[in-house]
Amino acid sequence: MIEFKQIDKDYSVGDQTIRALHDINFQIETHKLTIILGPSGSGKSTLLNILGGMDRPTRGTVQFNEQNVASLNDHELTNYRRNLVGFVFQFYNLIPSLTALENVAIAAQLTKNDANSLKYLKQVGLEQRLDNFPNQMSGGEMQRVSIARALAKQPQLLLCDEPTGALDSRTSLKIMKILQDVAKTTDTAVVLVTHNPDFEQYGDQVIRLRDGQVESISQNDNPLAIEGV
Ligand SMILES: Nc1ncnc2c1ncn2[C@@H]1O[C@H](COP(=O)(O)OP(=O)(O)O)[C@@H](O)[C@H]1O
Ligand SMILES: [Mg+2]
Repeated sequence: MIEFKQIDKDYSVGDQTIRALHDINFQIETHKLTIILGPSGSGKSTLLNILGGMDRPTRGTVQFNEQNVASLNDHELTNYRRNLVGFVFQFYNLIPSLTALENVAIAAQLTKNDANSLKYLKQVGLEQRLDNFPNQMSGGEMQRVSIARALAKQPQLLLCDEPTGALDSRTSLKIMKILQDVAKTTDTAVVLVTHNPDFEQYGDQVIRLRDGQVESISQNDNPLAIEGV
């Protein structure tokens, strides 16, 4: 569905060039949870930003269906980001003055996809919390709202940058289970970035990054299913 071909990303800082990514090649498939694993500074967020159309590579091709995302103009890139990609971040980024339902509805309205916000809050198990404001919810619940908000766009690609970075291990497993289920049961491909090797076992594909390069890619035919959380 998406293929990175020979992607490089250089940043210029003063008269220095920092190579954040070098010769990155991989594929992302629908119905799969892809985990991008690497220590801090290895290039995970840079990679995710290029996948999400928030940044462009210095060299290389991002093949998405028939088009090269790396060569889209600004307007086309905005449409790609708005209509095809859902984002989940470590600190949820909810609007504090809006309820759970309103936070999801506002994202749904930004896209052409006319979604039913309630359905997505049910999907993440929050049908009892529709009218709660963010400061009335736990971290795990806020993260579930932010996943519902991303899903309400009915994206082809769901990108999650350290979504459990601020959560305890049991709550993190709940979030992982939701993301596994999204990958398995919908047409949205899920990509999760983490520095935590404990999560490897839950992915269908694991891409390991080190110093801006791919260290290894493994396919997992039997990822561990998360039960009883
Ligand atoms: N906007 C930027 N300008 C300059 N250097 C950057 C920028 N963004 C990231 N980098 C550098 O690129 C490398 C990879 O960063 P990043 O993708 O954030 O890694 P990770 O998410 O794995 O911690 C780091 O050396 C970082 O300092
Ligand atoms: Mg990062």
